[in-house]
Amino acid sequence: MICGTIIYVMAKKTFQIAIDGPVAAGKGTTAKLVAQRLGFLYVDTGALYRALTLYVQRKGVSWEDEREVVRVLLEEKPKVGLRVPSEEEKDGRLCTVLLNGEDVSWKVRTEEVSRGVSVITQYAGVRDLITPLARQIAEKQDVVMEGRDITSVVLPDADLLIYMDADPRERAKRRHRELLMRGEDISLEQVYKDLMERDKRDSGRAIAPLTKVAKAWRLDTTGMTIDQVAEAIVAKVKTV
Ligand code: DC
Repeated sequence: MICGTIIYVMAKKTFQIAIDGPVAAGKGTTAKLVAQRLGFLYVDTGALYRALTLYVQRKGVSWEDEREVVRVLLEEKPKVGLRVPSEEEKDGRLCTVLLNGEDVSWKVRTEEVSRGVSVITQYAGVRDLITPLARQIAEKQDVVMEGRDITSVVLPDADLLIYMDADPRERAKRRHRELLMRGEDISLEQVYKDLMERDKRDSGRAIAPLTKVAKAWRLDTTGMTIDQVAEAIVAKVKTV
C-alpha cells in the first residue's frame, strides 16, 4: 500500500476585523486602539469618503448634483489615501488622510464636510470608488476597518464582524466635546439634530445602508470607556 501525504497549501488570508455603527458610537478611537494592540492597520473608510467630499467641495460642485459629483470624481480621479501618522503628524488625529498627496486630515473633519459626505455617500458612483480600494487594503495586511458598510458589503467574510452602538444622547455629547475641542462653535442641541439627521440618511439610503448584519456582534458602548471597549474587542478576537 502506498501511503501518500496530501499537502494542503492554504492561501494566506489576512486577519480582518470589520466594524460598523452610527456616528460617535466610538468606532474610530477604539478601532485605532485595538489596531495598535494587535499590530494591525487601522482603516477609517469614512475618511476616504470625506477626502472625496472635500475634493468636490473645492470644485464648487453642489452635493445634491449627483451626476456632476460622480462626473468630476470619475474624470479627475483624485487620489485618496490613508497612512499611519508620522512623529510630526501626531496631533490627536487617528490617521493621516491624503488627497492628491496633501495632508487633509483636519480639513475633512469640519461640519460642512460632514454634511456633504452624508449626501454623496448615497451615490452608487461614489461608493464604487471606495469599496474596491478598501478591499485592496484589507487583502494586503491585517486590518481593523470601520465604516457603515464594512460588515455588510466591503468585508462580509471578515474574521470578526462588530456592530457598535451607543445611546444617541451620549453619542451627541461625545461628538459635541470633540467639536468644541477643535474650536467649532456649535450647541449640543444642534449636534444632536445633525447626528439624528445623518443617522437617518446612513440607515435609510437605498445603497449600502447602515445595518446590523445577522453575524455581527452587537457592542453597546454606552457608559464604557474607550479602554474598556478596546479590551472587550481584543478579548473577543481571542475567541474567534
Ligand atoms: O465615519 P464618518 O462620520 O467619518 O463617515 C462619514 C460619512 O460617510 C457618514 O455619513 C457615513 C459615510 N460612510 C459610509 O457611507 N460608508 C462607509 N464605509 C464609511 C462612511
